[in-house]
Amino acid sequence: MQKLLLKNIKTLVSVYDNAPKKLSGAEMKQLPCLENAWLACEDGLIADYGSMSDFPGITDWKDLEVIDCSGKTVMPCFADSHTHIVYAGNREQEFIDRINGLSYEEIARRGGGILNSAKKLRETSEDELFEQSKKRLKEIIAQGTGAVEIKSGYGLDVESELKMLRVIRRLKDLSWIPVKATFLGAHAIPAEFKGNKQGYIDALISDMLPAVEEQQLTSFIDVFCEQGYFDADETKRILEAGKKHGLTPKVHAEQLSHSNGIKTAVECGAISVDHLEFCNDSDIDLLKNSHTMPTVLPGAALFLSLQLPPARKMIDAGLPVAFASDYNPGSSPSGNMKLVMSLACIQYRLTPEEAINAVTINSAYAMNLGNEVGSITPGKRANLIITSEISSYGYLAYAFGSDLIDRVIINGKTWK
Ligand code: NIG
Ligand code: FE
Repeated sequence: MQKLLLKNIKTLVSVYDNAPKKLSGAEMKQLPCLENAWLACEDGLIADYGSMSDFPGITDWKDLEVIDCSGKTVMPCFADSHTHIVYAGNREQEFIDRINGLSYEEIARRGGGILNSAKKLRETSEDELFEQSKKRLKEIIAQGTGAVEIKSGYGLDVESELKMLRVIRRLKDLSWIPVKATFLGAHAIPAEFKGNKQGYIDALISDMLPAVEEQQLTSFIDVFCEQGYFDADETKRILEAGKKHGLTPKVHAEQLSHSNGIKTAVECGAISVDHLEFCNDSDIDLLKNSHTMPTVLPGAALFLSLQLPPARKMIDAGLPVAFASDYNPGSSPSGNMKLVMSLACIQYRLTPEEAINAVTINSAYAMNLGNEVGSITPGKRANLIITSEISSYGYLAYAFGSDLIDRVIINGKTWK
């Protein structure tokens, strides 16, 4: 039995014998911590914790690794509930085009954007796609991510969407961190269906969804509900069809315009609704009576210079909020969740406690992994961040450009 003991931990963050499923409104300020603590892990899981003053001592040294964490903070790894890390190549040229004055929408209208990534992905072999994506998975784990959701949506035909989902399966089968797959066939209308959106939606429902279900890996179905992509009625039709194939809805909503994505997501019982730049007061009311986790993606808002989603207002209205990276080649080419946490504080005025909850417990909820990750709780995975010597956890958000992650522990073993 593989065992790990962390001792002399300055602050052990997010400690719960029984963790809440999510934290809403004023609860998001709660961050139970233990000062001068120890934490024991066994077989890749969190086993027990306590205060150093009650440390029972070590009786069995067999297969035991001990890490001295003097001066260091230990917290659960980040849970990243929204990514598109399976993609081919990059879109650096579009980044330059935007600097030179084109908008994200103009680039998309000219056949760039998501369709540019779809073209690249179709031309790339499955093995090559796996290698490129594996590198990104490695990168985000080293940055402290201990669970991830990954979307398809750059294939946009049956074979290429399945290719993406198979790559996601291979990433999951590496057994590094928990991986959840989302089918995002409704990400854009592919070139071969230009001017025939209904034809694409029909094909998505009658050809893609049965094939996705047969593959038995995918948990969620997502739709880009946006002007020029899929409207609220189309989104509803696609999500309802997905539910019949056992998939739980998620929605890309109100990112570039108000498109009634939140209303549709709530009506369809979505687990999360993501982006939210154009979320208004009545959307906040709708979310109050739902189980849908509003999820802010500050990387995309930053990279595309969008107006900011009203995260502070949502929390003050009593809502839970999650933050995720949206790591993708077009609107957020970064999966750095520590930076996401800093942006939550700097740009969205979350306190460090709220920000940590937003990137751990609440983001774990948003991909239905709350039982496995998101807090220091016996039985959950020993996926942990050990910081360098810092004054307090607030310093992690404050020093937004510093790494400060000394070690990442995955399944009870040192990853970085
Ligand atoms: O989450 N908004 C739609 N989808 C992605 C961007 C995809 C892309 O540009 O490749 C997003 O921002
Ligand atoms: Fe996205």
